[in-house]
Formats: sequence, structure tokens, C-alpha cells
Amino acid sequence: MSLDLKSLVRTIPDYPKKGILFRDITTLIEHPEGFRESIERIASQYRGQGFTHVAGIEARGFIFGAGVAIAMGVGFVPVRKRGKLPGTTIGQNYVLEYGVDTIEIHADVLSNVHKVLLVDDLIATGGTALAAVGLMRRTGAVCDDAAFVIDLPDIGGAAKLEAEGVKVTSLMAFE
Ligand code: PRP
Ligand code: ADE
Repeated sequence: MSLDLKSLVRTIPDYPKKGILFRDITTLIEHPEGFRESIERIASQYRGQGFTHVAGIEARGFIFGAGVAIAMGVGFVPVRKRGKLPGTTIGQNYVLEYGVDTIEIHADVLSNVHKVLLVDDLIATGGTALAAVGLMRRTGAVCDDAAFVIDLPDIGGAAKLEAEGVKVTSLMAFE
């Protein structure tokens, strides 16, 4: 019987504020088989398709993205919150519930010879992922694929990415 990964994700009501059901992946990654299986299920969908890099979004996207990069035998690109990368960066603003934030990558890490898989733990509004795809594409790299552990389809982020030509996969959905 294959492992039920969804049962390993804990739901915490009213975090970080009232009315939000927070889907907590810490209980998935502390389960050795659950963590390994999550990484392998993502990586197995993308091997042999010419990907050169996995990009992971700070912070939870680093946990899964780094594992997927190793499992695929490709490099890892950290997409960081503003001001954290030491070299010359390019940045992209994105809208949060309250205000705007910026994500950045090193300006010289990707170019038009690269093909990137975006990985994050969860997609909700899709604002963060869309900004990350925009950043990758500005370098000339191809970024037409994104993989998430969790999709919240009612919020519509995955549909927004698909509308921008990004094929989306997820390991589970919470309606
Ligand atoms: C969470 C999650 C995604 C993003 C999804 O990260 O890990 O990156 O929100 O939301 P969206 O689809 O509405 O953009 P968060 O910004 O909370 O940062 P963290 O990983 O540091 O906890
Ligand atoms: N990021 C945005 N929405 C979230 C949710 N409901 N649970 C965990 N992380 C999130």
C-alpha cells in the first residue's frame, strides 16, 4: 500500500490569523518515509525532460526544492526574500494580503540555455509562484513547470499559473 501523504499534513485552525486553516508540512517532513516519498514523487514526474535547475522559494520551498534537485541530479536556485542574496540580484514585487514584498535571485545564475522547475510546498493565491516564474523568465530561462506538495484549488493560484503557460502538478489538494 502506498503511503497516504495527505494524512501526514497537520491542519492548524486560526493560524496565522482567525479563519485560516494552516496546512502544516512540518509533520510530513518529520516522517522519514513521508518526506522521502514526497521528494521522490515530485522528482519522478520530471526526470529525463531536460531540466537544468530546480528553483525553490524561501523558506518552505527550500526544504522540498533542494531534495527534488538532488533526486533529479540538477542544480538548485534559491529564490530569496529581499536583501538576503550577496551578489547582484534581480527582483520581482508581489502582492501579499497586506502590502507588497519582493523576491530575488542572483542576476547571473540563469540564462536562455536553462530550463527550470519551480518547487514550493504550497500554492494558495499563486502570487508568490507567479512572481518567481516571472523572475526566471526575465533571465531568458524556460520556466513552464511548477510542482507543489499542496494545492488549495478553491483559492485559484494553480489556475492563474496555467493561464500564464505554466503546467502545474501537486501531490495533494485541500478543498
Ligand atoms: C507560503 C508558502 C508559499 C506561499 C503561498 O510562504 O510557502 O511560498 O506562502 O502563498 P500564495 O500562493 O498566496 O503566494 P510564506 O510567504 O508564508 O513564507 P515561508 O515559506 O517563509 O513560511
Ligand atoms: N500559505 C498561504 N496559505 C497557506 C495555508 N492555508 N497553509 C499554509 N501555508 C499557507
